[in-house]
Amino acid sequence: MTHAPQRSIQVVAHRGASEDAPEHTLAAYKKAIEDGADALECDVRLTADGHLVCVHDRRVNRTSNGRGAVSALELADLAALDFGSWKTRDAWRLRDEEPDWVHRPEDPADTSVLTLERLLELVADAGRRVELAIETKHPTRWAGQVEERLLTLLKRFGLDAPASAAESPVRVMSFSARSLQRVRAASPMLPTVYLVQFLTPRLRDGRLPAGVRIAGPSMRIVRNHPGYVARLKRAGHQVHVWTVNEPEDVDLCVELGIDAIITNRPREVLRQLGRM
Ligand code: G3P
Ligand code: CA
Repeated sequence: MTHAPQRSIQVVAHRGASEDAPEHTLAAYKKAIEDGADALECDVRLTADGHLVCVHDRRVNRTSNGRGAVSALELADLAALDFGSWKTRDAWRLRDEEPDWVHRPEDPADTSVLTLERLLELVADAGRRVELAIETKHPTRWAGQVEERLLTLLKRFGLDAPASAAESPVRVMSFSARSLQRVRAASPMLPTVYLVQFLTPRLRDGRLPAGVRIAGPSMRIVRNHPGYVARLKRAGHQVHVWTVNEPEDVDLCVELGIDAIITNRPREVLRQLGRM
């Protein structure tokens, strides 16, 4: 269903425009900005030499031509890898002819490892407000280092201490309540999103870890637990849902009054929301 313009729902590009371009690359984020996404989602991990890079998996094996854990590699090792060609190979494997949705970046920098610093620069240069939803991946292994590096970097861009949560163009998301607590302790105004993959009885009631105002349930939870979103809303929380790629799921999000849709297909979702 195409809706009357739904401007109140934020469209967040999950790992960039990751259906069209290799996830977590500059190519994917440039495409998402070009497509009109309101915000970009990215996962961050620490390299062996302490740089925050945008990589989803613990290892680089799936999304690059290299092997090994991000945490065991230095930034220079990662910079020597290609994070783009797997996407083209995957696309060819799935179809007989070249799929038209495969984005082929010409500049190698567009498909090399992306540091969070470079992504912040891209957002700063976007020429319009583009928000950033940064997910700390498995931060418990690093006992506070991920959050510390993250806040140092945000400070350098003047983004660590917004006047209010509503004004902040950056939010931090995590499946780890501890990670969000560390962020809030250092930067109380920075909005935090608690990602929910399984509903415990406590969460089912619409409660979130202390101080967190935004819930990030999976689309599966939203689909299978019809009253959950209403309970979160009654408790005064915002709801950001991942990963919403199917048109019928977009319809359900509109019906439920979801605040942000996190999707691999920002252009298609914007079109369905009547914004293109
Ligand atoms: O936006 C939240 C979502 O990205 C969490 O799942 O596995 O895609 O990082 P994952
Ligand atoms: Ca993520």
